[in-house]
Amino acid sequence: MALERTLAIIKPDAVKMGVSGKIIQRIEDEGFKIVGMKKIWMTKDVAKGFYYVHKEKPFYEALTDFMSSGPSIVMVLEKENAIKDWRKLMGATNPADAEEGTLRKEFGKNIDNNAVHGSDAPETAAFEISYFFSQIELV
Ligand code: PPS
Repeated sequence: MALERTLAIIKPDAVKMGVSGKIIQRIEDEGFKIVGMKKIWMTKDVAKGFYYVHKEKPFYEALTDFMSSGPSIVMVLEKENAIKDWRKLMGATNPADAEEGTLRKEFGKNIDNNAVHGSDAPETAAFEISYFFSQIELV
């Protein structure tokens, strides 16, 4: 299978808790190569643009408020089957439903503060990667 890339975010709750290093270690231990990484503080408008597909959802305001509430770490991860494998490592959206051993089980508090994000499909990954990274930042 060919190498695939996905966008991963360590969300503001996890950065605030000081567990970014632990999450990055897990990412590397699970065989992902980090081909791009930076710490950013999203403005409300940047968060709204990133999550525009959810603009009609009742949680859109809360989600974009949260994502612009502090610094995040955005990364591009590469490996075979990166999209599915990263979502598996993240665990269920609601940490209460996440399996043992997943990042959301370990670091997520609730559905609003669920520690990490991952693209859900190849088209989404292409959009999300290009939203935060230029070609020369992916090495
Ligand atoms: S959906 O409706 O199935 O497309 O939504 P889902 O994939 O479950 O979630 C999309 C993102 O919205 C976040 N989310 C929420 N944030 C705040 N409050 C509530 N109630 C809520 N429900 C879902 C969820 O964490 C997803 O964020 P990302 O960053 O994509 O993981």
